[in-house]
Amino acid sequence: MSRAVVVEQFGGPEVLEVREVAEPHAGPGQVRVRVSAAGLNPSDWKRIGAASAAAARGLTLPTGFGYDLAGTVDEVGDGVTGFAVGDRVYGGAPGRAVAELAVLTPGADRVAHTPDGLDDVVASALAVAVTTADAVLAAIGVRAGDTVLVGGAGGGVGVFVVQLAVLAGARVIGTGSASSADFLRELGAEPVTYGDGLVERVKALAPGGVTAAADLVGVETAQAAIELGVPADRVATIAAADPPAGVRRTGGVEASPGALERVAELVAAGRLTVPIAATYPLERVREAVERQRAGHVHGKLVVTLA
Ligand SMILES: NC(=O)c1ccc[n+]([C@@H]2O[C@H](COP(=O)([O-])OP(=O)(O)OC[C@H]3O[C@@H](n4cnc5c(N)ncnc54)[C@H](OP(=O)(O)O)[C@@H]3O)[C@@H](O)[C@H]2O)c1
Repeated sequence: MSRAVVVEQFGGPEVLEVREVAEPHAGPGQVRVRVSAAGLNPSDWKRIGAASAAAARGLTLPTGFGYDLAGTVDEVGDGVTGFAVGDRVYGGAPGRAVAELAVLTPGADRVAHTPDGLDDVVASALAVAVTTADAVLAAIGVRAGDTVLVGGAGGGVGVFVVQLAVLAGARVIGTGSASSADFLRELGAEPVTYGDGLVERVKALAPGGVTAAADLVGVETAQAAIELGVPADRVATIAAADPPAGVRRTGGVEASPGALERVAELVAAGRLTVPIAATYPLERVREAVERQRAGHVHGKLVVTLA
């Protein structure tokens, strides 16, 4: 037996149950990972929040929980090449990451070798946020000389968007609450508070104009960017259901091949930081998800498994 989060009804963090379950095993073409850390994302709680959201994702109950993970391969199925027992790996196991054991299918699931110098907590925080950040930056074509407005810059995706844009040579203005200003500066962004008057505050910071924008929370930043004269095809959103006309909607599935591994190497080399706001042991997974759901995390939250 091994422990895993099990979801038997739709709802909030209260439906997350830590249970003893039968050990999963690696079938042909699969590896089993002994999970040591599982990073959280808003999609984890959104997908179990209501039957309608679950149906849209093809999810049925009972299900596991989580996506991002890191750990060590402890079983290798027939026909697997490139992975061996004892390899440190990270990646994504949709709906089954917050568990002591997770089975992944290389090729179908994202799974990669963890670079030396990257600990499992950090590695487990990468897959969703990094692939999403890569897709966002590609969608708006960020390059040296750009002034990029990033909405929700201090969140899980934002910390990567900001740092990768800075590495590309862009100037970054990032939205956050007033209390996030120092955190955003540390990432390399110039902070601006979100809410009424955003357009005027951005104009004051960048009288020469903004050339591209990424809205990671809601639609306010996308609307502000259009008002600031940014061409719609240089504005992208990952969270708005109904963005302004011409604004690109994108997400992690549109990441460029190898993006995750490239960014992991940058992190291992110390060129990018991954702020971990907090770690929670498996028994406190509900608390972690409640905090994530409140929407003001700086960087990432991670559930740790012994
Ligand atoms: N399409 C995809 O593939 C994809 C992938 C990943 C995420 N997403 C979606 O993208 C969104 C962001 O994901 P995430 O992981 O970055 O979330 P997150 O870590 O929960 O984001 C937290 C951040 O949002 C900021 N924030 C809260 N209210 C805001 C507001 N009104 N305006 C601007 N920023 C605000 C907070 O800043 P303060 O603390 O300063 O308030 C905080 O730093 C979520 O809705 C998620 O579901 C989509």
